[in-house]
Amino acid sequence: MRKTLVAGNWKMYKTPSEARAWFKELLERYPTTPAEAALMVSFPSLPAAQETLSDTVVAYGAQDVSAHVEGAYTGEVSVRMLADVGCKYTVIGHSERRSYHRESDALVAEKARRLLEHGIIPILCVGEPLEVREAGGAVEYTLSQLEGSLEGVEIEEHDQLVIAYEPVWAIGTGRTATPEDAEAMHREIRAWFARRFDLAFANGVRILYGGSVKPDNAAALFAQPNIDGGLVGGASLQVESFIALLQAAP
Ligand code: G3P
Repeated sequence: MRKTLVAGNWKMYKTPSEARAWFKELLERYPTTPAEAALMVSFPSLPAAQETLSDTVVAYGAQDVSAHVEGAYTGEVSVRMLADVGCKYTVIGHSERRSYHRESDALVAEKARRLLEHGIIPILCVGEPLEVREAGGAVEYTLSQLEGSLEGVEIEEHDQLVIAYEPVWAIGTGRTATPEDAEAMHREIRAWFARRFDLAFANGVRILYGGSVKPDNAAALFAQPNIDGGLVGGASLQVESFIALLQAAP
């Protein structure tokens, strides 16, 4: 049984003080839910997450990590720093980083290695742009991204990794993949894991959907057999709607 994961990706929103107040409000109003909650926040908000969320049911993490271990890399944040503030997860390979910061599959694979070395679970994002989907190449594109982003990455257990399928055309656009289209891609991704690892790994690894997930479409998406939750941007910013997403878990 895969536990539904609702992970908020706050992107570049909320100051540390806003984040701290938000975490406290969430804990006060935390609903009954079968889902696991996680919040992926900006680096300066991680100490606030550590203070308020450690030893609670709410996990947290960062939105990126350096591929370097340590050294003269101005502006970079290392995996040891993330581990020190208690990150359980960290997003890598988000399409915004792939496009605005030209991150390659090879770089993303290097970041996955760093995280795994320190026991932080990568939430690895993959997904095709609109022109690729329209040309009928979505599955091939997404699987090749997956292959490249995990090349040479050694993973033993299915719970050391989470995948987020985020079709680029659905991010922040209000245009969501239909539950059926998302499910079809998730099935392909799971089948890829069965080939790359084995059936037990494929059946255990969680595959989230991301791209305009909202309280009114979350239940239909999360009810699909191969969709194990969501990586949510806009709708994770308000406590109210984040709670509604947690309650949408089957
Ligand atoms: O990582 C989550 C994301 O890219 C989706 O954003 O705002 O469409 O939910 P949003």
